[in-house]
Amino acid sequence: MPELRVSNAKDAGVSSPNLDDAAERRPIELTPEEERLIRMCKALGHPARWAIVKYLAECGRCICGDIVAVLPLAQSTVSQHLKVLKEAGLIQGEIEGPATCYCLDPEGIAWFRSTIAQYLSGVELGTPEGQSYFAQVAEQWDALRARMYSDAVRDATLARAALGPEATVADVGAGTGFIAQGLAPRVAKVYVIDNSPEMLAVARKNLAAFENVEYRLADGMRLPLPDASLDAILANMYLHHVSDPLAAIHEMARVLKPGGRLVITDMEQHTYTWLREEHHDVWLGFDREQVRAWFETAGLVNVRVEDTGESCCANSEAGRGQAAVTIFVAVGTKPEPRAKEAD
Ligand SMILES: C[S@@+](CC[C@H](N)C(=O)[O-])C[C@H]1O[C@@H](n2cnc3c(N)ncnc32)[C@H](O)[C@@H]1O
Repeated sequence: MPELRVSNAKDAGVSSPNLDDAAERRPIELTPEEERLIRMCKALGHPARWAIVKYLAECGRCICGDIVAVLPLAQSTVSQHLKVLKEAGLIQGEIEGPATCYCLDPEGIAWFRSTIAQYLSGVELGTPEGQSYFAQVAEQWDALRARMYSDAVRDATLARAALGPEATVADVGAGTGFIAQGLAPRVAKVYVIDNSPEMLAVARKNLAAFENVEYRLADGMRLPLPDASLDAILANMYLHHVSDPLAAIHEMARVLKPGGRLVITDMEQHTYTWLREEHHDVWLGFDREQVRAWFETAGLVNVRVEDTGESCCANSEAGRGQAAVTIFVAVGTKPEPRAKEAD
């Protein structure tokens, strides 16, 4: 292996004068989470530091003593590299002096791995018809939505979510943030999740006033969130756009904490087949008993499926008439794990 030498001030390849100029003209606003991620990426973006982290990961133990004995690094720069890695939260331990002994920081590495996966999960997404439909209507969605169903649907959803000010919640299939607008002022943190970049772009504008909102371009079938991490998930008019509603419900149940609630609002079963073509609906609404069974199959308890008293209305662009469909609200709770039975 060739010896890895360090340039003094700036890390080669990490910055370029042109890109820096552009950043100065229009600063990019970053969340603290993104700042942490970038600090870690920068720390890893140097061959010597990458070699250290890779070695620590491969050997799976701490290095006590001199790393130049095992890696072809320039001795003069090792402590400078270790300092950068430690400040970025990638390694922990003593990095200078006779007691030098350091390892990967397990919390930092786990956080980096899951966070980068969350941000990049959308990259794997294709653009099936539904997505291109929402790409086209994103800018007009708020006006279209207001003609189809009223703010009372949001109220019906929020009323069943048992939200507290400390809650961390998600709006799945969030679109332009119709439900999230009601969540953000009430809770500590809201994840706005959708697989349409165009809908999310409008959501960012609509929710710009709230600092407790994070956006995830992701498939609802693979939510970029750890197990048991949310107090509630709300999903309005999302379920009839997914091919496998039971799998979608399972996935949402996975990320709920014990005691957390899943609240889904959607259309009752109907016969307006033109909604498939004109609105790219996959399902013609749902039978309430079917939804109840899906919630229970996903392990949720205290399941209720009720009428919101609201309707979803749409006029066919092709003169096929008007649809008016009752909207139900389904709510279920993730049970507490059963206490271990005595031997
Ligand atoms: C009818 S819109 C509802 C948007 C919003 N909840 C509202 O009430 O205004 C359905 C949304 O679900 C999103 N969606 C559909 N399938 C999805 C999937 N598999 N994963 C994530 N989002 C999805 C669409 O991009 C769209 O924004």
